[in-house]
This record gives sequence, structure tokens and C-alpha cells, in this order.
Amino acid sequence: MDIRNSIIREIKYKVENINFNDLLIESVSADKGDYCLPCFAMAKELKENPNKIANDISSTVNVGGIVEKCEVVGGYVNFFLNRDVVSAEIIKDILADSMQYTDGDGKTICIDYSSVNLAKYMHIGHLKNTIIGESIARICEALGYKVIRINYIGDYGTPFGKIIAGYEMWGNKADVDKRGIDALQELYVKFNQEAQNDPTLDDKAREIFKQIEMKDPHYYAIYQWVIDIAVKEAERLLGILGIKFDSWRGESYYSEKLDDVVGYLQNKGLTKVSEGALVVDLEDYDMPPCLIRRSDGASLYATRDIAAAIDRYNTYHFDQMFYVTGHEQMLHFKQFFKVLDLAGEEFANNLEHIHYGLFSLPTGKISSRLGKQATLVDIMDYAHAKAEEVIKDRTFNILTPEEVADKVARSALNYSALKVEVGKDCVFDIDKAFSFEGETAPYMQYTYTRIESILRKAKDMNLSEVKVDYSALNSTEAFELLKACNGLKLTIVNAYTKREPSIIVKRAMDICKTLNKFYTNTKVLGGSNSEIMAKIELLQCVKKTLAVLFRLMCIDTLIEM
Ligand code: ARG
Repeated sequence: MDIRNSIIREIKYKVENINFNDLLIESVSADKGDYCLPCFAMAKELKENPNKIANDISSTVNVGGIVEKCEVVGGYVNFFLNRDVVSAEIIKDILADSMQYTDGDGKTICIDYSSVNLAKYMHIGHLKNTIIGESIARICEALGYKVIRINYIGDYGTPFGKIIAGYEMWGNKADVDKRGIDALQELYVKFNQEAQNDPTLDDKAREIFKQIEMKDPHYYAIYQWVIDIAVKEAERLLGILGIKFDSWRGESYYSEKLDDVVGYLQNKGLTKVSEGALVVDLEDYDMPPCLIRRSDGASLYATRDIAAAIDRYNTYHFDQMFYVTGHEQMLHFKQFFKVLDLAGEEFANNLEHIHYGLFSLPTGKISSRLGKQATLVDIMDYAHAKAEEVIKDRTFNILTPEEVADKVARSALNYSALKVEVGKDCVFDIDKAFSFEGETAPYMQYTYTRIESILRKAKDMNLSEVKVDYSALNSTEAFELLKACNGLKLTIVNAYTKREPSIIVKRAMDICKTLNKFYTNTKVLGGSNSEIMAKIELLQCVKKTLAVLFRLMCIDTLIEM
């Protein structure tokens, strides 16, 4: 329900050039009503006394409908809403809302996110990347966009030469088959350590990678086997986080398009040779040149991204494409977007880089299977153990403790990646993230399960035939709760427009806190059946709204906890 417009509709007074919608604000305290209209701007416009205008306006307001009464105080018109009427209307709206909107009109958005380099373990930064991308994908889908999720895997480059060189020197097949990614990572780390004393090793790795690029049967087969192991591991981790991609086409695929890209840019007259390399000059745009082909003939990160963008446009005909990475890649995206623009690709205007701030764990906080920094697997294991610990004294009748622990663990991680604004840096306090108090995922999940449990109890009371008495929702707490749930779509649109999942998080947290305030003053299953029914409908609205918000921020709903 659009409460503000509904109030404005009841005002019969008009002033030219004044839009009441711009002026109407929520009242700061209940004694000043629910909304108020300051009349100072109008007073200036009409060269009148504000209080007189407030009185004039007030006398034209239609009372008895949604407005119960108006009061004029010091140049303001205070509107007191008829809470029964407004509550009934908001509830009717929310219960009828499919919560699937059509703003996107079926337009296609490609989102390139997660996009891990497969030669290395995933780390905490990948959690941030992956969850921001996934949340934005879900936000787009809620608004009726068709989303293509692309995991542009980093399956190209000398690091693979290093892993394979290490494997040939120190590895064995049975071990890698058995321990998979852990065995490969150990080889990679050992290789880097040894290479510090023996510089010929790096040449060896480069040579092996060259062989892979030339599809030498021996090395290419090992490379594919390595990639396969790494992809399976990435799939497994993403699966635990609840995420699935539509495309895994990565950098190696596009490295083979080097000649196409070079030909394409040469045809447009965009390239020049600089120190043996092929570049697109971007001096006119205050950027360093975009490197297209290295002097040794290899492709570059930008070349592969140019090839990928064109390929995706041809495949998906996207209306927009988002790329999610850390701030540090800003220049790269600006450069290749500009190159595509100079090449005359109209879709270049629809490419957008969504970049996030640093997301880190204090070093040494979680013991790492390798090196100093904890890997994503370490973090996920730690989170799971934490989740088990916080639920260990609880009994479950419907779910298994294992299911609950899984969902608590991943929700806490996902929530942490979204709660601060995308662009801001944040240090992740993983222990706090599992508290049932404060702004945490378990707090929100628990709030949700409480609704579930009340609704289950209410079901046994057989209230469905009872006439609803909305006056049971006249308390300020109930009314605040309804208002917190009202207008969900606007929040989703706002989060979409700003590419900002934290807007969803804030809204959900606000609802949870408001709900908990409501509980302290209200016995939901107390009073007459008609009163109970009104409170049940209110909780159904809260549940429905929270379920949508939870989904958008990658938090699981639980029916018990
Ligand atoms: N693999 C890259 C990295 O880990 C991120 C790729 C982002 N996407 C892209 N199309 N460049 O830094």
C-alpha cells in the first residue's frame, strides 16, 4: 500500500507548484501522528502564515477513511491514521502480492562473478565476490529480469605450468586422485618455494604452459585433468553455498580467440605497436594503453575479456552485463569497456563493473591448511563447527541437527559478505557472526523460526472461519511492524538500482527487530479468536516478506532452530 499517496489523496487543497508527496514525512513521535506535512515551503510560495495554511489544508482533509484525524501544530498538519483501515489494507496487499515483479520485462542480464583462479584455493575474498554476485542475480530475478550466471574461471596462465611441473617432479597420480585439490595446492606451494632458490624452475613452468597452449598431448591431458579436479572442487564449494552457474566458460577458451580479437581491432584501425606489443591507445581518455598482444605473442587479460564480452553478446544478447570484482581491477574494466566502445559496439554502454572493498579475516584467526591465510574451505569448516556448537543444546522435531547446522553455517557466511555496503572495506568477525544476539544471521533466522512455530500452534486452533478484528493491530508496535513490511518492492528496486544488497539486509534486519519489539508487548495467541486471527495475518505477512528478503540475501529460512 502506498500510504503517503493514500493520505495525499484525502487532501482536497491544492497549491500550484507544490507536490505534497515531496513534503510529507513520517512523524517523529506518536503524539504527532503517523505522518506530517510541513507548510513552510507553501507559506513562502503563497506569502502566507504557515499555520494558517496548515489550518486551511486540514479543513479540507477527508477524515473517517484512512485518516482518522488531523491536528495543526506550529505550521504542520499532523495526520493520525485510522490504523484498522490501514492495517487491513496493507495485509490484504501483502497476502495478495505474488512478490515476483515484472519491471525487468524479461530483459537479460549476464552476471560475471565468482570467477576464481583455479590454480589457487578459494579464499575469503571469493566469498564476498560470489555472494554479492549471487544476491544481485536474485534481486534482478525478483524484478523479472532473466539472469545468466557466468563463472569466468581463471584456467589460463603460468600457475598451471607450475602445478604441472611440480606434479612431474614430486607428485604422484594416486595421491592427486585421492586428495584432489589439496595435493595440487601442495605441489603449487612447493614449486613456489623451490623456485626461490632455482630460477630455472620458472622457465620450466612457462615452457610447460606454452606446451599446454599448443595442445601438446602429454601436457594438455594433465592440464585438463588438473582443471577438472579444480572445477569439481569449486562446484562443490559453491554447492555448499547454494549457488549454481549457467556457464563456466573461462579464460583459456578465450585465449584461443586472440587472432580474432587482433583482426577485429585492426580492422577498426584501433591498434598500434608499442615496444613489440600490440596495444589500443587510450591517452585521449586519460588511461594507459590497453594491451592486446604481448611481445612474445601471448594474449592478455584484456584481450580475453574483449573476446568474452563479444561472445556473450552473440550468445545471450544481453541487455546488461555486470562484472563483480574487487576495486583493484577498476582500471582493467574501464580500459576494455572503452576499447569495445571505440570499436563501435553499442553493448559497451551496457557493461558495468561492480567493485567491492576489502573483505578480510584477521590473520591467524582460523588455522589454515596451507600458508598463512585461511582458505575458503578452512573458513567453511570453521563456520560449520561454530554452527554445530551454537545449536548443540537445542532439540529439533522436524529437521535434523545436521540440516540446521548446514543452513546456519552458510547463512552466517553469506550474511557477513553482504551486510556492509559493497564498496566498503570490512574485517570479518567470524565468531560474532554466530551469536544469536546482535545483527547476525542466526538472529534473523531464529526470528523467522519463531513465526513458524507460532503459526504452527495457531493452525491447531482452527481459526480460519473466524472474522478478523483488525483493531487488535492498533498498538504502535503492531502498526510499526506492518509498516516495516509494507512496500517491499520499492526496497528491491532500490537495491537493484544501487547494485546494493546491503539495502535488503538492512530492511530484513529492521523487520526482525520490529517483530521482536512487537512480541515483547503482545501475546499473539491471546485475546478473542478474532483478535488472534488479526495477529496471525500480520505474522503471515511478516513471514512472507522475510522469506523473500532472506532469499535475496542468500540466507536460509528454517522452520525450527
Ligand atoms: N579471475 C579473476 C580474478 O580472480 C577475476 C575475473 C573477473 N571477471 C572478468 N571477466 N575479468 O582476479
